[in-house]
Amino acid sequence: MCGIIGYVGDRECRDILFRGLRKLEYRGYDSAGISIVHEGGFKLLHSVGNLDNLEAVLPELGDGGTVGIAHTRWATHGRPSNENAHPHTDCTGKFAIVLNGIVENYLSLRAELRAEGHTFSSETDAEVVAHLIERAYKGSLRDAAVAAYRLMEGHFTYCAIAVDEPGVIVGIRKETPMVLGLSEGENFIASAIPAFLAETRTVIFPEDGDVVVVTRKGVEITDLDGTPVAREAQVVDWDEEAAEKAGYETFMLKEIHEQPTSLADTLSERVSSDGRVALDGLGLDPEAIRNVRQVIIVACGTSYHAGLVGKYALERWARMPVEVEVASEFRYRDPVIGPDCLCIAISQSGETADTLAAMRLARQAGAHVLAVTNIVGSQATREADGVLFTRAGLEIGVAATKTFLTQVLAMLMLSLYFADQRGHLTPAQVREYTEGLRHIPATLRDYLEDGAAAKVEGVAKKYAASRFFLCLGRNMSLPVALEGALKLKEISYIPTDAYAAGEMKHGPIALLEEGSPVLVVATDSRVYDKLISNVQEVRARGARVIAVGSEGNESLSQMADEILPVPRTDEMLAPLVAIVPLQLFAYYVAKHKGEKVDQPRNLAKTVTVE
Ligand code: AGP
Repeated sequence: MCGIIGYVGDRECRDILFRGLRKLEYRGYDSAGISIVHEGGFKLLHSVGNLDNLEAVLPELGDGGTVGIAHTRWATHGRPSNENAHPHTDCTGKFAIVLNGIVENYLSLRAELRAEGHTFSSETDAEVVAHLIERAYKGSLRDAAVAAYRLMEGHFTYCAIAVDEPGVIVGIRKETPMVLGLSEGENFIASAIPAFLAETRTVIFPEDGDVVVVTRKGVEITDLDGTPVAREAQVVDWDEEAAEKAGYETFMLKEIHEQPTSLADTLSERVSSDGRVALDGLGLDPEAIRNVRQVIIVACGTSYHAGLVGKYALERWARMPVEVEVASEFRYRDPVIGPDCLCIAISQSGETADTLAAMRLARQAGAHVLAVTNIVGSQATREADGVLFTRAGLEIGVAATKTFLTQVLAMLMLSLYFADQRGHLTPAQVREYTEGLRHIPATLRDYLEDGAAAKVEGVAKKYAASRFFLCLGRNMSLPVALEGALKLKEISYIPTDAYAAGEMKHGPIALLEEGSPVLVVATDSRVYDKLISNVQEVRARGARVIAVGSEGNESLSQMADEILPVPRTDEMLAPLVAIVPLQLFAYYVAKHKGEKVDQPRNLAKTVTVE
């Protein structure tokens, strides 16, 4: 939610800041702005809409200025408009701020400041920060930013600059991301590494409550009371090209095609010489794994669907009782959590506010918390007792694809590992499934290189004018159907429902009429025959069946109106291949409708608000 970048150095910063915003656009894209310290004042520019609009007016900023902050917004308080776009300034025009997150008590702060004579020019919660700094300023931007922080409730990261301290950016974080980029004679502050990856790979991740003073010479990090705190610099090995489209028409299409590599990377070095899954960093020794009596998986959106796959695998292979919970619900219930509970939090970003809150709740209740995440240094990794990293690489498309597949793989690996440790699968069975997993990247690569995208496009464009889709699955294919439906909703905006196929007759079947398109995930499985009975029920109502099926299944081909074949795999591994045609289907439906696939309306990649 919202992207921030700040630069202090010797170079003119306008274009550096804009390039940084481009790399953060996935975090929000309803308005944007830049503020640069220049000749005793600020140059300020705002625009509504995505960054193309800001780019069009960028020359208005002119040349000059080597210190600045910039922001790309995902609206929470106040609709997208020039007035509500960041950076915000105070009454005197001497302070400018950008903020990511939410100031929960902004209304009372605003009323207080208004009563003191402050004038507000936006509807945002963020603007109070500029006025609080103005009120507190006595010659030190750092101290004024801290004074503001002490009055604010919520979760946020903000950066401030001051006309009277032209070589300084002050940043403070509370439960939302901040990363510093260090270089020779210039330094960066941002919401995420891609913002400055083209300039430096040396990074520091400040912690909550850290106050950061960034100058061209370096960064000083203290706690709120001014005591220096040591935060180690790290060098990231991220590939800058990951943030480019590499010839694909969109990031989403590129990321779908990167899935074989992401899976291979996630598996890499996690299979022992005797062919069994070997995981470290979980913070659980073999005895602790054997003592787990309850597993609770918490996650949101796509990550929740990966959690559902994890439930089936943990139950079947490791015989562990598992609940999967939408994090935003879990956190406001009174869940029963025992000390022998393992809470697995799945979050590609590691920054989703609801998932972090659910993790905290589980931890306070005594559970061991394991984070499954794609982002090194993210908040989830700091708050968990153990971490299992997916290695999908940077995902820019707002609709998750390769991060989902690697989450599914991580949950399958974890389930095999636990099953092995708890003795519920024999070593031979573990080896057989592990070998199956090792084949998936190559299988998927062949499938994609064999023209899968073009074949799915041929089907998808026939259905791009549909008014409604129903997605059905059973058992391991149910999470796939749910995820396929979420992809369709997110990027094509076509209302889509997903159901357990056996549940359809209890209500959703009433939606079907002649020609209604129904997507069925019907790969080989123990419940295949049951699922086919449901397909017949759909056909009997005149609906059109688009089936994802195991290749070579002739009877399914004859039964379905359209067939999207995928390579045969063991049913427990099938989600790793069956989701891909549904990702492509959603992609091409959206494309043929003319939608902006990488930046769907109303969404943001990282959801750091409740
Ligand atoms: C996926 O396509 C969505 N953009 C969304 O549902 C996402 O999975 C959800 O917000 C959770 O994000 P996280 O994995 O970063 O926690």
